[in-house]
Amino acid sequence: MRKLSIILCGLILFGCSEQSRLSTGPRPNPIRNPTTNPNPTPGGLGLRSLTKNLYIGTAIVAPIPGSDPYASILANEYNIAIAENVGKMNVVEAKEDVFDFTAQDALVSFAVAHNMKMQGGPLIWSRAAPGWINKYRGDAAKLTTIMTAYITTVMQHYSTKFPGTIIAWEVVNEAATAGLGVFAAVPDCVELAFQTARAADPNVALFYNDYGDETSGATTTKVYNLVAPLKQKGLLDAVGFQSHFGVHNAPRMSAIKTTMDSLGSIGLDVYVTEFDFSLPSANGITPDNPRDLILQGTYYNDYLATCLAAPNCKQFITWGFTDAHSWIPRFFKGAGAALPFDANYDKKPAYYGMQNALSRPAAR
Ligand code: G3I
Repeated sequence: MRKLSIILCGLILFGCSEQSRLSTGPRPNPIRNPTTNPNPTPGGLGLRSLTKNLYIGTAIVAPIPGSDPYASILANEYNIAIAENVGKMNVVEAKEDVFDFTAQDALVSFAVAHNMKMQGGPLIWSRAAPGWINKYRGDAAKLTTIMTAYITTVMQHYSTKFPGTIIAWEVVNEAATAGLGVFAAVPDCVELAFQTARAADPNVALFYNDYGDETSGATTTKVYNLVAPLKQKGLLDAVGFQSHFGVHNAPRMSAIKTTMDSLGSIGLDVYVTEFDFSLPSANGITPDNPRDLILQGTYYNDYLATCLAAPNCKQFITWGFTDAHSWIPRFFKGAGAALPFDANYDKKPAYYGMQNALSRPAAR
């Protein structure tokens, strides 16, 4: 009995002091479940309207589908985008010395019309090298010319035709993981790629992109050792965390934060470039276990909140926004449902997770 009354007194005292702290201090975060709709009015303002200091974006397919809400959601929700595929070398220079910007230009025009920015690239990615390049395998001089001409031509096309729209270029993708492929023959390939990009347009941010570089480990160390000297030479501004995660490989936020901080300590920004969170899904669209949607929503919430809390995390981009257009089911049988809108373009808990992260008083 005595014990019970001590507990009761304690609770009452705690309640009183908490009450007075709350009435004078900052308002508490009213959000309890970060995956439910904080603003249940239909329609409403998109994610982009909730932030002034973060680029919130998505990869986009080409051409932009016209017969469903794809375009209206894209324009309403996001203030930055990247072409999922049509900015790759195997599309832009599918034939030797013939540059075809048609598909990507249509996306950039859409961005201009809707007051959005874009990321460009990847400029150099071994897996997007066009087939014709293989006839020069091992020819360092020729490959150097091809690479530098490609970077310069592409970047200057966009800085001339759409000035100020592409604000960051993914200069090199996956050198530490997939390797440089045919470009490995180019002496100091990565540094030369960044040098060429800097010279082609000194007014845009340049970044290196990879997967498995989000937390500690061999890839992260490799990436750090690659980017730190480039940063010192003034050739690079940010590192991309692809972040293709899922229920079986979701890193802890504290580990991601540590990597963001470590890059920040040498003056580098971080862009979350390709985030998605895949779920077990027999048909690739609906999750096998509907409860996974809450888990997914919480992760979207936490990851965006972690980015918002890190001053050097400047862009947060998902690899698509609707499960109707996602690479996951095409590449991983039995997985999917990875994005914030479902295949019918309805908002999922993942969407509300992002909305809640952006709505917190501490968000920027
Ligand atoms: O457009 C052609 C179509 O004409 C043809 O009939 C069809 C036959 O396979 O292929 C279509 O192209 C496919 C393209 O996606 C568009 O759907 C390619 O085969 C396919 O390889 C390509 O896959 C893309 C992959 O990169 C390779 O470029 C995925 O959509 C894209 O999501 C994925 O994105 C990468 C990032 O660029 C880098 N990080 C990893 C990420 C996921 O793999």
